[in-house]
Amino acid sequence: MTDPKLRVLIPAEKIQERIRELGEQISNDYPEGNLHLICILKGAVFFLTDLARAMKRDVSVDFMGISTYGKGKSSSGEVKVTKDLDISLESADVLIVEDIVDSGITLNYLTHVLDQRKPRSIRIAALLDKPERRLRPIHVNYVGFQIPDKFVVGYGLDYAEKYRNLDSVCVLDQEPG
Ligand code: IMP
Ligand code: MG
Repeated sequence: MTDPKLRVLIPAEKIQERIRELGEQISNDYPEGNLHLICILKGAVFFLTDLARAMKRDVSVDFMGISTYGKGKSSSGEVKVTKDLDISLESADVLIVEDIVDSGITLNYLTHVLDQRKPRSIRIAALLDKPERRLRPIHVNYVGFQIPDKFVVGYGLDYAEKYRNLDSVCVLDQEPG
């Protein structure tokens, strides 16, 4: 696809290579038993499906809808649960799977909410991390790539619901929304 607004930051092969490494590392870090993956809709769906297949272990999968951003690029700072989990977290080893950690507001809020549901453990895997942007403290256990403070799209990430299906992560050059 030739879109003049897009510049490839992380090519598809690099993403897949890193996910294979993360899958192996996560598989080895947990004892035998089930690992419960919680995918944060919608952006993390692409990462979740590749990451789950890179793990040589038993996993279960559930989905949670959260909204912090409106249709544009700026955060409202408000967190809203738009779809709750189907499966109980009691005594589960939980791995939250997220596309990108930006301000940290979403994951800071979410880990507090999920902690109250008595899981055995909670860790976080994020494909991308923009550490410069952090407003709330959050420890991300597994990071695919640290990236600079640029608005990115592709591999699940959108701008106004567009570009999620790109297989690479691209910087979007455009006026702020
Ligand atoms: P946080 O609560 O500020 O950490 O925001 C995390 C959420 O904001 C992510 O799950 C994304 O949905 C969205 N987001 C943050 N940065 C970007 C970006 O560069 N491109 C697309 N979405 C982003
Ligand atoms: Mg998101």
